[in-house]
Amino acid sequence: MRSSNLLLKTITPFCLQKTLLVFSLLFIAYLIFSSNPSLSPFHAHLPRHTRRAFPLSRRHILFVIGSSSGSFAARRPYLRLWYSPNTTRAFAFLDRPPSPSSDGLLPPTVISQDTSAFPYSFKGGFRSAIRLARIAKEIVELREPDVRWFIFGDDDTVFFVDNLVKVLSKYDHTRWYYIGSNSESYYQNAKNSFEMAFGGGGFAISSSLAIVLARVLDSCLLRYGHLYGSDSRIFSCVAELGVGLTHEPGFHQVDMRGNLFGLLTAHPLAPLLSLHHLDKVDPIFPKLNRSDSMKHLFAAVKVDPLRILQQCVCYDRSNLLTVSISWGYAIQVIKGNELLPDLLSLQRTFTSWRRGMNSDLSRYMYSLRDYPRDVCKRPATFFLESILSDHHVVQTTYSRQYPDTCVRDNSVKNLRKITAFSRKLEPDIEQLKAPRRQCCDILRTINGSMHVNIRQCGPTELIAIHP
Ligand SMILES: *[C@@H]1O[C@H](CO)[C@@H](O)[C@H](O)[C@H]1NC(C)=O
Ligand SMILES: *[C@@H]1O[C@H](CO)[C@@H](O)[C@H](O)[C@H]1NC(C)=O
Ligand SMILES: *[C@@H]1O[C@H](CO)[C@@H](O)[C@H](O)[C@H]1NC(C)=O
Repeated sequence: MRSSNLLLKTITPFCLQKTLLVFSLLFIAYLIFSSNPSLSPFHAHLPRHTRRAFPLSRRHILFVIGSSSGSFAARRPYLRLWYSPNTTRAFAFLDRPPSPSSDGLLPPTVISQDTSAFPYSFKGGFRSAIRLARIAKEIVELREPDVRWFIFGDDDTVFFVDNLVKVLSKYDHTRWYYIGSNSESYYQNAKNSFEMAFGGGGFAISSSLAIVLARVLDSCLLRYGHLYGSDSRIFSCVAELGVGLTHEPGFHQVDMRGNLFGLLTAHPLAPLLSLHHLDKVDPIFPKLNRSDSMKHLFAAVKVDPLRILQQCVCYDRSNLLTVSISWGYAIQVIKGNELLPDLLSLQRTFTSWRRGMNSDLSRYMYSLRDYPRDVCKRPATFFLESILSDHHVVQTTYSRQYPDTCVRDNSVKNLRKITAFSRKLEPDIEQLKAPRRQCCDILRTINGSMHVNIRQCGPTELIAIHP
């Protein structure tokens, strides 16, 4: 080889000294790396527990969908939003084979095993809860290779897959994790548990926990015949294994009806992971039906998934305006100085899941504020119209909801369009663990069109009109 010939030809005493120095440095480096496996480039020779150094990716996540032959085909528009046969791994568990019309763009189906021997005594409930809980055992027994996380959900759960990959990469799948979120409804949590992952919102179980859960689940199913749902059965069994819920607020059970605007415009400072019950709520964009609304949202999700619905607030000091952006969805402009903490509470645009006299039914797990009946008392609202991106800058444009006949200050009345510029959010794990809201600046407003720039806040910058 050329380089070794060169080495031999040019060896002199001085050179030999240098060569020895290089070798000893290499040897020291070897000692350092071999005592610290996480730094070593030779993953293949390491014990199993250090292999997680390979970053989590889509192929390590297996989605497990609880469905039925009756609902599977009808949920196609939602499944197709997030599932793609080439990049997502999923199985749908059905009671009976689906109608032959189902296509290759839906997850492959598995027929659940017979669960008629297990007890079910919840009055007015559905026995299918047992079948849907037992999916957690039957999926593990399929022995799919290289699964780090099992994600359970319903056939009307819409997942945000890239965000799940990012959020789950905070956790070690070789430890026992049960990750999800409870209901938005105080009543639902009080009835089930504040520490239960609600199944429609979806939840994640690490592969190490799933393997153990699969071994003991049947015994739990015998003990919890008195419970209503499949998620409460899983919760009970996980609790018996001594494991508690890790809360991730990006999972949304959506135990509410009507207009989700208030929920979607004040999303917590965490990536959006799921939305459920989208058939039970109004379309989220005013002029589109339910499925087209979600497709429209996904146009933004595809460009910058981690930023979707992330709220940032900026102020126009000269016109005294407050601008609250829920990225990829809507912008609200309010005349006056609204303090940030007030904008983080949810406008009560929705109604309760259950209708009844019990006042607990309309209590939520959020701070709420009023959403005036009078449209002229509401903020001027702009919904996502279009999205453009190149390698550096993402440009989202939002247009005014309707021609506004209200008496408003000119600075609000004449606004037709808002364009927001941002960069793709690419936080590392440490930033995900300690997230910080971004800041924005109003660049200019010309001819009814406002331009806003979203950026990282300065070290001690405050989100306020006169910081
Ligand atoms: C999946 O990959 C195959 C082969 O690369 C390709 O022909 C097909 O169009 C892809 N399907 C989708 C839905 O992207
Ligand atoms: C929604 O609207 C689009 C186009 O307007 C239409 O093609 C689609 O069938 C509609 N979907 C539903 C579920 O009504
Ligand atoms: C202002 O906006 C209106 C409506 O989009 C447009 O017709 C008009 O040409 C614009 N004027 C200028 C000076 O850009």
